[in-house]
Amino acid sequence: MKTGIIGLGNMGAGMALSARRAGLETWGYDPDTRARSELEQAGVVLVESLAALVAQVDVIVLSLPNSDIIEQVVLGPGGVLEHGRAGQIVLDTSTADPASTQKIAQALASGPLRLVDGPVSGGPKAAHAGSMTMLLGGDPADIERLTPVLDALTGKRVHVGPVGAGHSAKLFNNLLCGINLVAVGEAIRVARAAGLNVQQILEGVNAGSGRSGVTEVNCPTWILNGAFNSGFTMKLMRKDLRLATEMLEKSGEHAPLSREALRLWADSAAVLADDEDFNRIVDFVEPKE
Ligand SMILES: NC(=O)c1ccc[n+]([C@@H]2O[C@H](COP(=O)([O-])OP(=O)(O)OC[C@H]3O[C@@H](n4cnc5c(N)ncnc54)[C@H](O)[C@@H]3O)[C@@H](O)[C@H]2O)c1
Repeated sequence: MKTGIIGLGNMGAGMALSARRAGLETWGYDPDTRARSELEQAGVVLVESLAALVAQVDVIVLSLPNSDIIEQVVLGPGGVLEHGRAGQIVLDTSTADPASTQKIAQALASGPLRLVDGPVSGGPKAAHAGSMTMLLGGDPADIERLTPVLDALTGKRVHVGPVGAGHSAKLFNNLLCGINLVAVGEAIRVARAAGLNVQQILEGVNAGSGRSGVTEVNCPTWILNGAFNSGFTMKLMRKDLRLATEMLEKSGEHAPLSREALRLWADSAAVLADDEDFNRIVDFVEPKE
């Protein structure tokens, strides 16, 4: 299965390397990739245009920053739709707006291309290892056809519903992760203020029912050691949480805890720059009035 990856950033570059390691013929397109020489050495064919990539491949994997760019790449002039042919499948691994994903699916429905959304977890490390978790939205037959690519890129995958459902599920995941980071940041400060050893307290929490992905993974890997180098930026997390905020607003549901956490994330932009690691939110304390 010939595979093309559009967007070779922190995640897409790792996916291209994993696809090659699994033996897939792999093409890549990104006018601004930082990983050019590593990708070329691994045998990824880097092309200078989107059209050149689409002409070669069976599966077009997207790993792009946001839905505006995804719409431009798929539906825009000179985009994937314009150059696509029957039998090709677009697998969108970006974290994106589910409404935009459904709009793209509708635009593709009358043409030759199929769309599956498969946003991912695990960060650049899992993208490089081919062990990402993927939440899939789409037609079961399309997902089945993607098996060689999914085997190359993922360690775990869950089919959560029709097109767009993957992107919705990912927003719920990141909303819960965002709330959890704020809560764990508060717990760390309170524990320190009480003179407790935070490492030991978290060890206790991780043996109990208060544990989470944040306490089990983020705390030891990026937070307590001061590394803050997860490869996932504040800018991308804020994008995801803006989309989560829209999802809450549309639902009209009472969600005071989510709303307060989302407000803190939005307010943190005043002191935490977009290129900071997203885990930095644990240190965010609102200035006293
Ligand atoms: N980094 C993570 O830990 C992580 C984890 C899960 C999901 N995601 C999601 O995956 C997606 C990619 O994240 P990332 O961290 O790799 O971002 P990134 O900013 O490192 O990479 C995005 C890449 O897209 C390229 N690009 C932009 N416009 C393009 C275009 N028109 N054509 C081709 N390439 C284009 C950029 O040059 C850049 O290299 C985002 O939607 C993000 O929310 C990231």
